[in-house]
Amino acid sequence: MTAHSRTEEAGAAPVEPPAGAPDLTVVVPTFNERDNIPILIGRLETALHGLRWEVVFVDDDSPDGTADVARELARRDGRVRVIQRIGRRGLSSACVEGILSSAAPVFAVMDADLQHDDTQLRPMVDRLAADELDIVVGSRYIAGGDTIGLSGRRKAISRLGTTLAQRLLGAELTDPMSGFFVMRRDAFNRSVRRLSQQGFKILLDIFASAERPLRYAEIACRFHPRVHGESKLDTMAAWEFGLLVLDKLFGRWLPTRFLLFSLVGGTGVVIHLVVLWLLGGAEAGGEAFFRAQTGAVAAAMTWNFFVNNWITYRDKRLRGWGLVRGLLSFYAIGAAGAVANVGVATLVASNGSVWWLAGLAGAAIGAVWNFAASNYITWRARI
Ligand code: GDD
Ligand code: MN
Repeated sequence: MTAHSRTEEAGAAPVEPPAGAPDLTVVVPTFNERDNIPILIGRLETALHGLRWEVVFVDDDSPDGTADVARELARRDGRVRVIQRIGRRGLSSACVEGILSSAAPVFAVMDADLQHDDTQLRPMVDRLAADELDIVVGSRYIAGGDTIGLSGRRKAISRLGTTLAQRLLGAELTDPMSGFFVMRRDAFNRSVRRLSQQGFKILLDIFASAERPLRYAEIACRFHPRVHGESKLDTMAAWEFGLLVLDKLFGRWLPTRFLLFSLVGGTGVVIHLVVLWLLGGAEAGGEAFFRAQTGAVAAAMTWNFFVNNWITYRDKRLRGWGLVRGLLSFYAIGAAGAVANVGVATLVASNGSVWWLAGLAGAAIGAVWNFAASNYITWRARI
């Protein structure tokens, strides 16, 4: 088999995929990385020479056409695969999908932007096998590794996150925020259903979700500055990370989305009262109060919808007509929730309960209904 012809050479003979499953699948999440794809494939070819490998790019429908670039290369090189996800975003969930799409006994996760140290990939693979480990992590924080690719601000954030993550894991891992590692499939598959898949710290997620402690080693890696394209993680990074930590701490009892949904609901109450006051609800009685209250309910529901669409369901954000349809369904669900709320509260009160307990029971039923129904119907999400 002609396994090693160079992909960059124009007109080179097509490369056949390895017979049977490859030994190693390199999973590469991408978003707007078109210029990096051909370079990365060339580097993998050098780094993994002699191994049976494949690379799978998991692209979230990048506007720059990354998926098409990768597909074009895949036509000539059977070791290249593409998964294109539409209407979804997320580094961690992209990695999980890429990993599950492969049959190889070992996989690597690596960024597309050439910031990860490809020369360490082979030593990481060899170490995994030699020491019978579950996972080998490329670390920037042991002797020989470095973070020259990070800005001063990013370095500080990274260090803070690292400390938090170490607390969460109770592990000595020096770089739990690394996005570069090699892992055995059987170890991954044991915990895949417990993963949060939240945000972009897939390694932290894997360690935090493992049933029994993972056998791991770390290999020093340099973190290079980015050359093409730009980082996507600056603004949302801290927020997504916080959510992952929340989910790992409380997710067993309460879905993180429900926590966020409830927090947003809390801000909705404030909006409600402000609008009620603005519409003259404070002085008005009877008919006028009814009108003010109705306006306040509509304002609060609209607020809740947009803030939830922006934060709670940022990965499933509705746009265009979807936004209109979503808003209408959210109103309808809210109206049904209000009926359920009043119904349950009245029922509890009529059974002789104290007034505030009846009120709380109604509110709780309303909140759970609103969350469950809008989760499935408005945003079409799982919990
Ligand atoms: N499919 C998909 N979906 N890929 C994404 C998304 C997304 O929503 N967001 C980012 N990516 C891809 C990028 O295209 C790149 O290949 C990789 O994920 C990392 O994204 P960058 O935007 O380059 O992130 P970074 O350099 O700030 O962070 C990286 O370094 C950290 C170490 O400081 C990531 O690898 C982190 O996981 C790593 O911890
Ligand atoms: Mn990067």
